[in-house]
Order: sequence, then structure tokens, then C-alpha cells
Amino acid sequence: MIISVRSLSYDELKRNLSPDDKIVIWSCDTCVKHCGIAGMEKMSVLEDLLKEDGYTVLKKELVSESCQINLAKKHKKAHEDIFNDATTIILLTCEIGYQCVKTVFPKKKVIGTAKTFGSGNFSNKKGPILTSPLPTTGLAPETEGYTLNKLVETFNLYPKFFDADKQPNPEKITITVDGKPLEVKKDANLLDELSANRIRIPHLCYDSSLGSIGACRMCLVKIEGKRGLIPSCCTQIEEGMIVTTDDEEITSLRKSILQMIIAECGDEIQQSRDIRYWMRRYKITENRFKLPKKNETVDDSNEVLVKDPNRCILCGRCVRACANLSGQKVINFARRGSNTVTITGLNDPFGSTDCAHCLACAHYCPTNAITPKSISKKISGYPFWTMITYPKKIVTKT
Ligand code: SF4
Ligand code: SF4
Ligand code: FES
Repeated sequence: MIISVRSLSYDELKRNLSPDDKIVIWSCDTCVKHCGIAGMEKMSVLEDLLKEDGYTVLKKELVSESCQINLAKKHKKAHEDIFNDATTIILLTCEIGYQCVKTVFPKKKVIGTAKTFGSGNFSNKKGPILTSPLPTTGLAPETEGYTLNKLVETFNLYPKFFDADKQPNPEKITITVDGKPLEVKKDANLLDELSANRIRIPHLCYDSSLGSIGACRMCLVKIEGKRGLIPSCCTQIEEGMIVTTDDEEITSLRKSILQMIIAECGDEIQQSRDIRYWMRRYKITENRFKLPKKNETVDDSNEVLVKDPNRCILCGRCVRACANLSGQKVINFARRGSNTVTITGLNDPFGSTDCAHCLACAHYCPTNAITPKSISKKISGYPFWTMITYPKKIVTKT
């Protein structure tokens, strides 16, 4: 992964802005996110800070890999009206992403917020570590790796995200959850706020970076005054809401859904961390549903990914990740009802599609139905490494 650290204070960022700027916040969803300075959540924090200070934020644009210029161009095209209107793009990307976005928007004010140091990896103990510094940093290669804190200290940068400089103060309201009052962000997504307050709700099709489609029904809750069970991932918070997140009926329904998924997809699906967690939590040891196991062909034709439809629960995360984060629209749903499947291209082998190898689909798949092949295969011909070697060039994967 590429290692980057925030290089701009919030005040410095504001000095680059003027009050009538129309801003798009653009974030990468890969390496910089793992360095703690990007991603959907961070974009929301920055949006709150800027709005509180009276700036106009038109859009948050999450991109699977901003360092691929083709993907940056696709995002520009997909939201042309907004980008035409925008005067300024604030980037939560590495410096390579900065070069690509700057090239795609040559007439806009593009503000980078990170300094990129080279490549490294993620250590469970130390977090992201830099092992192969760029020559321009003056750092010697270090097998143990430089931690982010070490880089912050050595280069006098910023250890955390912008909210460490100034706490955002979004408008809060009070709702009742499982009999207790809870302060939450006004108009926010109910599932997001429950998760932010450590109330764990199962959710297989939702991710705050991808939005909601209400497909899996695992996140159902009860809301006083509303009929039936309501998917919390599709619910906007309202003042005074009274929510029940767990009771006998909710648990029984979630258990049935989970058992049905496992019955359809077979034992392999239990390798998924989320599925395992909820099976333990709901004490599912045997399955009351007996369904014929899927017997679909595994697609191994993609250079970097394997797609195993037998593990697919049709949550649609890969479809949204590919369309919204990479802009490629390689993965789609096909057929209807109980025959619904996900296909690549027009039902072409994965390897013959326009896949940009950004890995967003694999990253968001909750059941490992799409998984990366070995890292070594991915590295050959992968743009990151070329860009690290040629940091001043724009690299396009062909
Ligand atoms: S199929 Fe997956 S790896 Fe390929 S472009 Fe779409 S999201 Fe990226
Ligand atoms: S491949 Fe994975 S992400 Fe895509 S629909 Fe199936 S389970 Fe969901
Ligand atoms: S997470 Fe809400 S319906 Fe799937």
C-alpha cells in the first residue's frame, strides 16, 4: 500500500479557500483510507467542518482508486453538471491521486491534503508502516518500517484527521433506542448512527460508502408508529423516534434470514467474518432449511480477482462499488426473482470485461464471493508500482 500523511492543517486548508467557492470533496477509498486520512466517514467530517464555517460543499465523491486516471475521468463524466459548477476540489488522496485529478480537472482549484512517502504495508500492531520510502523523502529503506507517528514527528505533519484541529459540531437531536435516550446527528442514517454509538446491528447489503438498497433485511428494527419491521439502513433519523433494535421477533427473523443464506450458499460462506459473527451471536449451530446447494462455475479469468457465484448472497455491494466507486459498471444484476444472479459485462468472462483491477468489489463483498488472487500476481502490471517508480508521470493501466 501507499503510505501518506496529512500535510495541511485545517487553517491552511481554509486559507486556500474563498467564501464563494463551490467545493467537491474527493476521496480515495484505498491506501489513504487505511492511513486514516480519507474515506466516506472522513469526507463527512470535513464536510461538517466546512459547512459549519459557511462554505458550500456540492458533493462528496468517493473513488475506488484515484491514481487510475481512467477512473478519475469516469467520475468526472458521471457527474459532469456538478463538476462544471464546482470551483474547487479538495482531495483526500495520495500525491499520485493528486496528479491524476489535477490532470482531469486542469482548470479547477485542486487542493491536495496529503504528503506521500512511498510504499509499505499494514502491521496489526503498528498500523500502516512505510518500508520503501521514495528517494525524494531522504529516508533510508527500513525493513522494520517507519510508523505514521514517526513520519509525523520527522516531517512536522499532522497525526490525525482535520477534526483533531477543530471538533465539528453537527446539529444533534434525541431519539429513544431500546428504552434509553440517545443523542444522534439530525437527518443522519439510522443504521450509521446506531453503529457510531456501538449498537451493533447486522447488515449485509449496506455500507455507508455505498448507500442502501434494503436487500438483505438483516438490519430490520421496530419504530414506534410505523407498521411492521423497518430496514434501519434505509431510514433517516427523525426527532423523537422510538426504536427497538432487538427483541424476540427481530432475533427470530434475523436468524431465519441467516439460516436461509447459509442453506443456499453452503458451508463455505461461514468463512465470512460477518456471517460467523452473527451465527455465534444468534447461537446458530444447525440449519432448519435444507436447500439444494448452488453449483455455479467459478470465474478465474480475471487477472487479479476470482468470482465464485456459489457464495454470492446478491447483496449488490459489488454492483454499487463498481458503478459508484470505480465508475466502470462491470458487475450487474441479471435475470429476475429467484433466478437473479450477478454477471460481469454482458455475461462475459470477468477477464474480458473493462475491469480496472481496483479491487473495490472484493473489498466490499461480505461473503468472499469475489476475492483477490495472490498479491504477487496483482503487483505485476499494477499502476501503483509504476507510479512510485515514476512519481512525476501519469500512469494509465491498459
Ligand atoms: S469489477 Fe471490481 S475490480 Fe473491476 S473495476 Fe469493478 S470494482 Fe474495480
Ligand atoms: S458477489 Fe459479493 S458483493 Fe457481489 S452481490 Fe454477491 S455477495 Fe454481494
Ligand atoms: S443492511 Fe439493511 S437491508 Fe441489508
